[in-house]
Amino acid sequence: MLEDRVRLPLLRSKITTAEEAASLIHDGMTVGTSGFGAAGDCKVVPRALAARAREGLRINLMTGASGGYDSDGVLAEAKAIRRRMPYQSDKTLRNQINAGEVMFFDLHLSEMAEQLRDGYLGPVDVAIIEAVAVTEAGIVPTMSVGNSAVFASLAKQVIVEINLDMPLTLEGLHDVYAPGPRAHRLPIPLTATEQRVGLPYIPVDLEKIAAIVITRKGDSPNQIQPPDAETMQIAGHLSEFFANEVRVGRLPPSLQPLQAGVGSIANAVLHGLVDSGYRGLRMYSEVLQDSAIELLDAGCVDFACASALMLSAPYQARFFDDIERYRSRILLRPQEISNHPEIIRRLGVIAVNTALECDIYGNVNSTHVCGTHMMNGLGGSGDYARNAYLSVFVTKSLAKGGDISSIVPMVSHVDHVGQDVDVLVTEHGLADLRGLAPRERAQQIITNCADPLYRDALRDYVTRAGTRGGHTPHLLESAFAWHTSYQQHGNMREALKLDLF
Ligand code: COA
Repeated sequence: MLEDRVRLPLLRSKITTAEEAASLIHDGMTVGTSGFGAAGDCKVVPRALAARAREGLRINLMTGASGGYDSDGVLAEAKAIRRRMPYQSDKTLRNQINAGEVMFFDLHLSEMAEQLRDGYLGPVDVAIIEAVAVTEAGIVPTMSVGNSAVFASLAKQVIVEINLDMPLTLEGLHDVYAPGPRAHRLPIPLTATEQRVGLPYIPVDLEKIAAIVITRKGDSPNQIQPPDAETMQIAGHLSEFFANEVRVGRLPPSLQPLQAGVGSIANAVLHGLVDSGYRGLRMYSEVLQDSAIELLDAGCVDFACASALMLSAPYQARFFDDIERYRSRILLRPQEISNHPEIIRRLGVIAVNTALECDIYGNVNSTHVCGTHMMNGLGGSGDYARNAYLSVFVTKSLAKGGDISSIVPMVSHVDHVGQDVDVLVTEHGLADLRGLAPRERAQQIITNCADPLYRDALRDYVTRAGTRGGHTPHLLESAFAWHTSYQQHGNMREALKLDLF
């Protein structure tokens, strides 16, 4: 019933078409949209905007994190994006960023709301927010909260996409809280994963709602790869490590709240915990992927909160079919709260994020292929890695069928410095780097994590570099020989053959 979805009769007069709503947006405007990892992004106004790209319209697009095909994909294909922040994972958009056609600014996801409020990122002209309903008090979001609350509060005008495919029973799943102004801000009163501290809707000045569009379109399904032998081995090493931490008294039997990063590997690693026998786990994360539903259903996880529910199609159907059962065990928060350093440090979160590559001293590159080409962005990995009780990075030891070693002499771009990396895990094993000096770290990482194909060459590098001295020894003239070999020959093995060290 439309009355349930747009509860104030006065606002029903704002219901219009996507094209009419899109006409509020002009070339050069900054548009802040809902959406986080393709969960809860707006879907029909972006398509209407894309159609106007033929007239030369280009916008600055801000979101929570990545959008799905209906927002990022459609707008990128129409070349309608001029600037983009803070995260993306769309292939067309990625190519435009790497061609220098779209100016992409990625930042720690927790910081974007603060930077917007502080005025660093310019004004937000229009917010477009996908919603389950607009109530007398505000907007009830769908599968994510992301930055929607800050967009709604700062934007001059707000467009709401009411998505009838999103069940009304999602109402009550959200907890929207914004920290007070600085410099005398009070602590955020959140001391447990399941605690509610805010409102079940996004507060908004209803006068700013300029258009409401009714849609029926699902989220782009999360395209993650299923677990494979290597990711199951990574999960096995991590599970064994946790068990030992429990044995020696550094972790309680139900561990501490878990965060898991985006992508296939982190999802598969969490999935691997389903058979590990853990009970009473909690998640304090930025995204909940399919693995979170598995862990809840298996009774391993009691409660999970995040900023987005980013599910594949079958898992979304499973969630919608049984939403009442999940309701008391899942909560969605704004990303400035889900990723807030204060809370991550207070709760003692165990963070599990994915590296593209890691070097022999434990520095991690999560974003730039060969130090130059953006993959997705930093996302929340830095928020968690820097502030976690335990910061774990996982990666397969090889990429592109063995053409690339994910363990390299020196990372070609640094997202996470060695001091923010406690544990590194590949399918070969786990390196516990806590308390180790760089030379000790190198031994652990090469022996436990590197693939045998590249292990001897890494040992040779570290030995030769070590004879030259230094706290963190390197051969600067050949530290990137493997990367240049990949760029020139399409694989890193050529560097071994030519003995480029
Ligand atoms: N060099 C070049 N490419 C590499 C690589 C390397 N060292 N390691 C992996 N890749 C490629 C893979 O081949 C794959 O390419 P494809 O899409 O063409 O098949 C792609 O990177 C993704 O790798 P995959 O193995 O499928 O891992 P994933 O889906 O788990 O994603 C990241 C891994 C690092 C890209 C992803 O986790 C990410 O964007 N992280 C940064 C943001 C983040 O951590 N956010 C979480 C905070 S909550």
